[in-house]
Amino acid sequence: MRHVNIIGTGSYTPDNTMSNDDIAKLVDTSDEWITSRTGIRERRISTKESTADMAYEAAKRAIKSAGITVDDIELIICATITPDYFMPSVACTVQGMLMAHKSAAFDLNAACTGFVYAMVTASQFIQSGMYNKVLVIGVDTISKILDWQDRSTCVLFGDGAGAAVLSASDIKRGIIASTLSSDGSKQSILYCEAIPLANPYIKYKEEPARPSIKMQGQEVFKFAVRSVTDTIKKVLTMGNLTEEDVKFLVSHQANRRIIDVVAKNSNIPIEKFYMNLERYGNTSSASIGIALDELVKTGDLKSGDIIILVGFGGGMTSGAIAIEW
Ligand code: UT7
Repeated sequence: MRHVNIIGTGSYTPDNTMSNDDIAKLVDTSDEWITSRTGIRERRISTKESTADMAYEAAKRAIKSAGITVDDIELIICATITPDYFMPSVACTVQGMLMAHKSAAFDLNAACTGFVYAMVTASQFIQSGMYNKVLVIGVDTISKILDWQDRSTCVLFGDGAGAAVLSASDIKRGIIASTLSSDGSKQSILYCEAIPLANPYIKYKEEPARPSIKMQGQEVFKFAVRSVTDTIKKVLTMGNLTEEDVKFLVSHQANRRIIDVVAKNSNIPIEKFYMNLERYGNTSSASIGIALDELVKTGDLKSGDIIILVGFGGGMTSGAIAIEW
């Protein structure tokens, strides 16, 4: 049986930091409200980087940490909801920037669960024997689809990219179990429209508004708590693991209160949940990749440790992966 290991990680966030006080100059909010309701203190907002620029930087760092060359990469999967173009995909643009001439490349959209979906998709290509090394990227310039006058959403998000290199291995380690799910009937609680119908038959009375994220915060909160709790339980059962076996959980970084409730419901100590949302806010498809890269860099993750990556997001999607490091 072919096993799938993570052999390198990388991340990138823009230099420009926007604090809660900075946002309070734009909308009627406060550092106290944002911090107490979400745990977020600041986020990075792009002033120059495109989605592909951030993805490229994270990818370069992941390839370097994997100790391989771009010629070893056979497939690039990029999870994003904020591509620079309808076509080409961000993955193709990054392939060109990296000069990874030997790889195939495509994007996928599973909103904030995108990194987990991309990792699971990559692992299927490796387990099937089609590819040996796959570059996975989660990236979003979410700031470009925010309504900067809507305080219920604009305070929550930030821009960034996370990446990982997955490799085939004969050693029985790496991905132990994974699960993905979606519930399209709940899409109205978190969505962003694309461009409107435009052709010679369509006449708008007013110029259509710029697409921006719309969210029913409390409904998303309830979905998140339920789906993340259930998904962790499911992946543990699939992997024949218990809560005690888990060293760290890298959850989608949306709201500290969501993670607090999940930890309580799952009987897993909150200290096991790696968190960086205080510094980056919710970076959508990128959040799990950035958090994983930071966790690796702490040096606290040792060979043989069990970690869980778990996400939820628009769709509504959710998913988790259990990994032996
Ligand atoms: O990747 C998935 C992304 N989305 C999420 O994860 C969102 C999940 N939901 C949440 O995190 C929370 O629901 C929020 C942080 C979005 C909101 O927290 P909440 O405790 O559910 O607040 P709420 O929506 O019930 O609003 C409470 C009050 C309202 O005022 P009134 O009606 O009580 O007078 C809101 O208008 O807070 C007001 N409010 C704000 N006040 C100051 C909403 N946003 C803000 C704000 N600053 N930024």
